[in-house]
Amino acid sequence: MQHRVPVAIVGAGPAGLLLGHILRAHGVDFVLVEHRSRDHVLSRIRAGVLEQASVDVLDRYGLAERLHTDGLVHGGIHLQVEGRRTHIDFEDLVGRTVTVYGQQRVVEDLMARHDELGSAVFYGASDVTPSGVDGDAPRLEFRHDGEDHVVQADFVIGTDGYHGVCRGLIPTEILDVAERSYDAAWLGILADVAPSTDELIYALHPDGFGMHSMRSPTVSRLYLQVDPTDDIANWSDERIWAALQERLGTAGWTLTEGPITEKSITPMRSSVASTLAYGRLFLAGDAGHIVPPTGAKGLNAAIADVAMLGEALAAANGGSDGLLASYSRRALERQWKIQYFSQWMTDMLHTPGAETPEGERPFRYRSRVGQLAYVTGSRHAQQTLAEQYTGLAIE
Ligand code: FAD
Ligand code: DHB
Repeated sequence: MQHRVPVAIVGAGPAGLLLGHILRAHGVDFVLVEHRSRDHVLSRIRAGVLEQASVDVLDRYGLAERLHTDGLVHGGIHLQVEGRRTHIDFEDLVGRTVTVYGQQRVVEDLMARHDELGSAVFYGASDVTPSGVDGDAPRLEFRHDGEDHVVQADFVIGTDGYHGVCRGLIPTEILDVAERSYDAAWLGILADVAPSTDELIYALHPDGFGMHSMRSPTVSRLYLQVDPTDDIANWSDERIWAALQERLGTAGWTLTEGPITEKSITPMRSSVASTLAYGRLFLAGDAGHIVPPTGAKGLNAAIADVAMLGEALAAANGGSDGLLASYSRRALERQWKIQYFSQWMTDMLHTPGAETPEGERPFRYRSRVGQLAYVTGSRHAQQTLAEQYTGLAIE
């Protein structure tokens, strides 16, 4: 089957699905191709916090109805160091909030709207092959339900995540990828139990980082720092709860336990491509950059990218390509600020791991305790954290 559309999008994560809606709102036609099944995409448990700027984008395109009903608006977070908990009041500090609403729900909402609109979204495609992005006639070929498809487009957009195919279309002489690994990973659980906290708790403890987030008034999401080489099979439910009790514990507060419904370990990495544009190819979201999760930025950065890219593609479709020409520079400028913040939060809140020489670990740990004591005790430092956590402007 042949398709002729202005924009071919690879990858139906939050970035690709939202980009489709933004293009449609501007009257620009697209085809969106995803190699996983719809159920698989929906089953991935990932991020949970939306910046105010992200909520604004979803609102602007009429995609936030359920988010406003079910999302939990949080005016701050709790930062905890060795059992001492301090509330960081974003509303007071910078007049902004965040919304706790799982990435799965965002994806579900975006998919449902595409269904209603009858968008050309192909799930479970195979042999997804973009080509010709360095010329005037880019193509996207794929196979779906036993049929071969060829999309001829003006632009190919890679919203296909960190392991996607699109970034690899940029020649290695042009593409540099700046990366950093961490000697810590996150063990995350979902539990059927009411959250024991009103707002998220980020805690540094001698045993490692611990965190209490949530998905709804009856579902809690919690995380533990573990060694990147650790295996989830080593973590019984009892061991997980005991570690959470230890790391999150504080006088006069109780962490209520409940049945664990999901548990997994995710490594942490920072990575930024040197360009998000090559010929008629543009990258957005995890395809172009990833952050460690501590600052809750991955999903938000993907939303910011496609907010900028969608407007730029719409303008280009109308004959004005200035915004598209500056997209990569603008998105990367914003991204590097996010990278700095995510690294700062991650380093501050984790105990030094196996890659840190043993003799240096006590010093590095105590300096993090000192840093957290400073941040929790200084209004200036809290404002800096609040401004970045609630999200930089999307320009
Ligand atoms: P993705 O969500 O990765 O979507 C890319 C899509 O492209 C996928 O559906 C994929 O199947 C598809 N695709 C890939 N290759 C192809 C191909 N060849 N053809 C067609 N389709 C393709 N962020 C946080 O802020 N907090 C968290 O707690 C957090 N936890 C995370 C846990 C995990 C395991 C991962 C991987 C990420 C996590 N993140 C978290 C990051 C956040 O979820 C991502 O930043 C966000 O999903 C980015 O959205 P995206 O649409 O750019 O990429
Ligand atoms: C969640 C994940 C994060 O990475 C974070 O910083 C805050 C919350 C979550 O999954 O709820």
